[in-house]
Amino acid sequence: MNINSKIYIAGHTGLVGSNILNKLKNLGYKNIITRDFKDLDLINQQAVEDFFEKYKPEYVFLAAARVGGIWANNTYKAEFIYDNLIIAANIIHASYKYGVKKLLNLGSSCIYPKLAPQPLKEEYLLSGYLEATNEPYAIAKIAAIKLCRYYNEQYNTNFISVMPTNLYGPNDNFNLETGHVLPVLIRKFYLAKLLQENNLDLINKNLNLNLKNIKDIEVELAKFGIYKNKIILWGSGNVYREFLHVSDLVEALIFLMQNYDYKDIGEIINIGTGIDLTIKDLANLIKNISGFAGDIVFDNIKPDGTPQKLLDVSRIKSLGWQPKILLKYGVKQVYESYINLWE
Ligand SMILES: NC(=O)c1ccc[n+]([C@@H]2O[C@H](COP(=O)([O-])OP(=O)(O)OC[C@H]3O[C@@H](n4cnc5c(N)ncnc54)[C@H](OP(=O)(O)O)[C@@H]3O)[C@@H](O)[C@H]2O)c1
Repeated sequence: MNINSKIYIAGHTGLVGSNILNKLKNLGYKNIITRDFKDLDLINQQAVEDFFEKYKPEYVFLAAARVGGIWANNTYKAEFIYDNLIIAANIIHASYKYGVKKLLNLGSSCIYPKLAPQPLKEEYLLSGYLEATNEPYAIAKIAAIKLCRYYNEQYNTNFISVMPTNLYGPNDNFNLETGHVLPVLIRKFYLAKLLQENNLDLINKNLNLNLKNIKDIEVELAKFGIYKNKIILWGSGNVYREFLHVSDLVEALIFLMQNYDYKDIGEIINIGTGIDLTIKDLANLIKNISGFAGDIVFDNIKPDGTPQKLLDVSRIKSLGWQPKILLKYGVKQVYESYINLWE
């Protein structure tokens, strides 16, 4: 891949895709193709084939997917399996059919079995049962890995699959229902802090409401477990999670796209920091950054997800990549950029 290569980023408005786009532009790549959802619905096979036939991209970043946290995964099970299967199948097949030189498929650490030994090595794929709350999503992601592998084996294509850990960073999904844990915690602590300050204007602005008195605001925020003196969070808080800043991920993706092929990497390669912390510790980190002076209460009745999901990142490190952004600095930066959107 060089600065004149024709590169298609599928999912360029999302957390990963938007950061790939910005990075490639900053590096001077001149020939990047993107399409908004309204102009190209990747679930429509004919539209995807027509697009590839017309534009013939040489390199593809497959970062389009239906993505979400535990609530969204649990609620929209049908969409999580259907959309992710179809988007991946359409893009991978069209990439084969129209001669894409190299495709990078984004998987996820949730493809690993729920009770696999930690840290998770690439060879643990399909060695046990999946976590029930994200099985639909994980099955679709595993199918995409296998599509890449078998097209490579049968048609000699060069499709690589990467398994990033949980990501965070600029342009994340801060939706209180569909977002992942880290951005949702940032928004919840921000709202709780505003509630403690009786800052109706900013709460209304943030939630797109127009409520005139504090009691109505309190009712609205209580729906999300946000109170003046406490925040209620899903699960026990005792499960461990690993987080990688999206800028570090993007550096790894471009590094792999530029330097390594399927024959070097094999079926999948993990991308993460190799360091995790409990959700309780993460919540305390964000609470301290926000300045919220209340309690954190965990609702044990709600599902926790997998007890631990720490990636073994020795393979990608041995290729010469490693993350640069420490969690405490990355989260502070994202918190500050989030509140700057409103203040
Ligand atoms: N976020 C994480 O923590 C994380 C962790 C590990 C792996 N990953 C993987 O990284 C990839 C990207 O995730 P992300 O966090 O960047 O997701 P995201 O922020 O939700 O972005 C998803 C992108 O896909 C697009 N998209 C979804 N359905 C589409 C359709 N039918 N047609 C066209 N475009 C469609 C979205 O377009 P609109 O904006 O128009 O909806 C958006 O650009 C996924 O494969 C995910 O599994 C993410």
